[in-house]
Amino acid sequence: MRIFIDSANIEEIKEAADMGFIAGVTTNPSLVAKEHRDYHQVLKEICALVDGPISAEVIGLDYESMIREAQELAAIHPNVVIKIPVTENGLRAIHTLNLKGIKTNATLVFSANQALLAARSGASFVSPFIGRVDDNGNDGLALLHDIVTIFDQYLLDTEVIAASIRHPMHAVEAARMGSHIATIPFSVIKLMIKHPLTDAGIEKFLQDWKNK
Ligand code: E4P
Repeated sequence: MRIFIDSANIEEIKEAADMGFIAGVTTNPSLVAKEHRDYHQVLKEICALVDGPISAEVIGLDYESMIREAQELAAIHPNVVIKIPVTENGLRAIHTLNLKGIKTNATLVFSANQALLAARSGASFVSPFIGRVDDNGNDGLALLHDIVTIFDQYLLDTEVIAASIRHPMHAVEAARMGSHIATIPFSVIKLMIKHPLTDAGIEKFLQDWKNK
């Protein structure tokens, strides 16, 4: 499973990217709004930090706006992938952008059917929001499992991004079930790195070294 960071914060993207395991970045309007910065400028800086798919989301809900915004965002850097919500207009836009050679990430996916339709429309990635499914009293990992199984069964090229990751076990389970990618907030990445026995082990080694 490849690891993307779910962030629009340049400092934390850099800090994570410097550790070497970050293969891509996902942003969304809420994450970008938190930064109070020009979106295009933020995207340019992210593309300079990480050499991999960088998801940038359209705001418009009608087909024409989606295509216009997608073309503007795609012109920023060849690695930019356009995030489009799965709606009727969204699927139409995914199809058009695929024909134009522009990669898309079908976002706000909450059912296996939405994922399958987006893949068949030509999405390069689909993003089931597993944490939000859990928040809503359903099983986000079961949804992820369904999508991964269906995509495997039909050898679909579309990659699955486990999104809306809330804690380290979401990442473990996503990897276990064969999700191609997980996009993870930096706070959860830090929890994935940390283990109390690693800290205790370092402390013990240093203590023993001092007493040699
Ligand atoms: C994915 O691409 C989204 O940006 C993200 O994972 C949403 O997560 P949230 O439910 O924590 O906002």
